Amino acid sequence: MKNNTMKNLLIPVLMAVAVILAPAIAAASGHAHLDKAPIDISDKESLRRGAKAFADYCYSCHAASFMRFNRIAKDLEMDEQDVREMMIHTRGKKGDPTKIGELMKVSMTKDYAKNAFGTAVPDLSLEARARGADWVYTYLRSFYVDPYRPTGMNNTVFPDVGMPNVLWRLQGLQEPVYKTVMHGDVEVEELEGFKQIQLGSLSGEDYDKFVADLTNFMVYLSEPVQSERRSLGWKVLLFLVIFFGFAYALKKEYWKDVH
Ligand code: HEC
Repeated sequence: MKNNTMKNLLIPVLMAVAVILAPAIAAASGHAHLDKAPIDISDKESLRRGAKAFADYCYSCHAASFMRFNRIAKDLEMDEQDVREMMIHTRGKKGDPTKIGELMKVSMTKDYAKNAFGTAVPDLSLEARARGADWVYTYLRSFYVDPYRPTGMNNTVFPDVGMPNVLWRLQGLQEPVYKTVMHGDVEVEELEGFKQIQLGSLSGEDYDKFVADLTNFMVYLSEPVQSERRSLGWKVLLFLVIFFGFAYALKKEYWKDVH
């Protein structure tokens, strides 16, 4: 009996300890602070801007091979012709243009990518689900100048990343600023923010908006049925409310002579 109570107690106690320790463990293992991604997957305008950004800056290296071009047209309420012009710049093996019903693959081979970047270029279909929207949003705003890296760039969220900062013309160049904080008795260098050392074509605020749209699109990519599911959820709730009204009226009708 006593033994059992002990066991019953053990699990909540362990869970409480885990909850209390989690931030400390995360800090100690060098996890960067993530900014909240200001995204809204039902905002079609933002998704369309994000799709254009993805096509212009990412799709040359990264595939999103779970997605078809014509699905984007349908979900984002765009003309297929507009999607074709915006996203499709490739041709098939026989020289015919890639079709609107095809998957978003890239023609770069693994070997080529290994040579160029020292690593394979990951498919971004599920990226936002795997890493989380906040991670993607923070990552794309956390590249900094580092002359010791082959690309001249490093990243505070993804240290020693193989990807160059393809958005530097928009963002400009920045350097990290660190502060020293005490974790108990240990001095730790913590990222305080970034210092702009060269201006880009966008202001800081506009760059954040640009990345938010791009992140929004990547969240849509990783779960295209999400917005459909949400609107379906509301319809189901509405149906239940109306149905309850009918059921209640019917119940009253049936029982009115019983009492
Ligand atoms: C010049 C080629 C190139 C372009 C263009 C490019 N990337 Fe990358 N990207 C890479 C490579 C290579 C890696 C793998 C880095 C590594 O593992 O060190 C990568 C990694 C990433 C990762 C992290 C993947 C992980 O490990 O979880 C994300 C997210 C990402 N890229 C997003 C983007 C976005 C968004 C764009 C467009 C703004 C973009 N990339 C444009 C080459 C590219």
